[in-house]
Amino acid sequence: MELTDTILVTGGAGFIGSNFVLDWFPHEDGKIVTLDKLTYAGNLSNLDSLAGDARHTFVPGDICDADLVRDLLEKHRPRAIVHFAAESHVDRSINDPGEFIRTNVQGTFNLLERARRYWEELEERHRQQFRFVQISTDEVYGSLRPEEPAFCESTPYSPNSPYAASKAAADHLVRAYHHTYRLPVLTTNCSNNYGPYQFPEKLIPLMLLNALEGKPLPIYGDGMNIRDWLYVQDHCAAIRCVLKKGSPGETYNIGGRSELTNLQVVTTICDILDEICPDPSLGCRRSQMTFVRDRPGHDRRYAIDARKIHNDLGWSPQTPFEQGIRQTILWYLGHRHWVSDIRTGAYQEWLQLNYRGR
Ligand code: NAD
Ligand code: TYD
Repeated sequence: MELTDTILVTGGAGFIGSNFVLDWFPHEDGKIVTLDKLTYAGNLSNLDSLAGDARHTFVPGDICDADLVRDLLEKHRPRAIVHFAAESHVDRSINDPGEFIRTNVQGTFNLLERARRYWEELEERHRQQFRFVQISTDEVYGSLRPEEPAFCESTPYSPNSPYAASKAAADHLVRAYHHTYRLPVLTTNCSNNYGPYQFPEKLIPLMLLNALEGKPLPIYGDGMNIRDWLYVQDHCAAIRCVLKKGSPGETYNIGGRSELTNLQVVTTICDILDEICPDPSLGCRRSQMTFVRDRPGHDRRYAIDARKIHNDLGWSPQTPFEQGIRQTILWYLGHRHWVSDIRTGAYQEWLQLNYRGR
């Protein structure tokens, strides 16, 4: 059977997925079919600019739905699956891990199994062309001490949160499908992303919106936890590069070369907001910072060694944090409707659950 120039993107209405879909068309040929369940984190309006564009098809649905995935593969005959769909927030995984096992583990298993059956029916030359790209995280590697070297592709998995464990389980299944069936998979393990369309449960959009609105900025623990921040469009470019040039069976670490403490991130946001939209009634926004009870099992430090993707595929991050964070702040300032539309009742309930009495 033949392949088309279509790719199937799961989770394409979420933060990174929608940036990937939007960034695809200026850079690449071929169509995209987006499969997304539209959970609280998925927002179809992220893809509004593609409405009526024949290159893009949106399909609402669950990656755990075996019949739906089989039908989509048979109908669209994609040359690749790029798998973003996941439950992605560590704090939610601590409060209620069940959905993380269902979507991240069972959902990935279902996609792999459907992909394998589809791929096995292809002619040999098409079998070689097909790709399954697993979008994973640096959190599968666990936590680094200050003096330890950054995570590389051979760092042993050591996940600490239910979220990280569910992604690690999925990555292991992906690996096994290559080893056992030779399915042409690629896995990317990326550091923390930031940029447009990120749901404001995550550190950067939560802090910037709270800072704008004169609300407390809840810093977990001592604020000295370190993350390696990557601008989302750099991540999307890395994934396109892995899809195009990566070797099946390989994993690629992707990072921003930008290790910052949470305190550095939050003070940077406060200072930029004071500069570009000062509010005399709020004064200095740093005064809104409050230290709250730490996240249970809070990983201290993540850092990515991205030499492999740089040396083998020629990718490196292009957006310094100081530039990316300004772009992100300006995007949120210019998209107040997007923000108010997603801050629904369910979002307010989450804030109550996570921050009350913290
Ligand atoms: P997100 O939570 O913003 O989006 C997830 C998307 O998946 C949403 O659109 C949601 O509706 C969809 N989804 C959830 N369950 C589904 C299901 N059962 N079936 C179909 N769709 C479903 O997440 P994100 O931050 O964009 O992350 C995307 C991927 O990248 C995830 O796999 C995550 O583990 C990985 N990742 C994220 C980061 C980060 O900093 N955000 C860093 C590294 C890797
Ligand atoms: P987050 O954006 O949830 O990403 P992850 O936990 O996947 O790295 O959090 C980034 C860091 O910010 C992490 O160390 C936890 C911290 N954090 C806070 O201090 N306060 C908050 O309200 C949130 C959501 C996160």
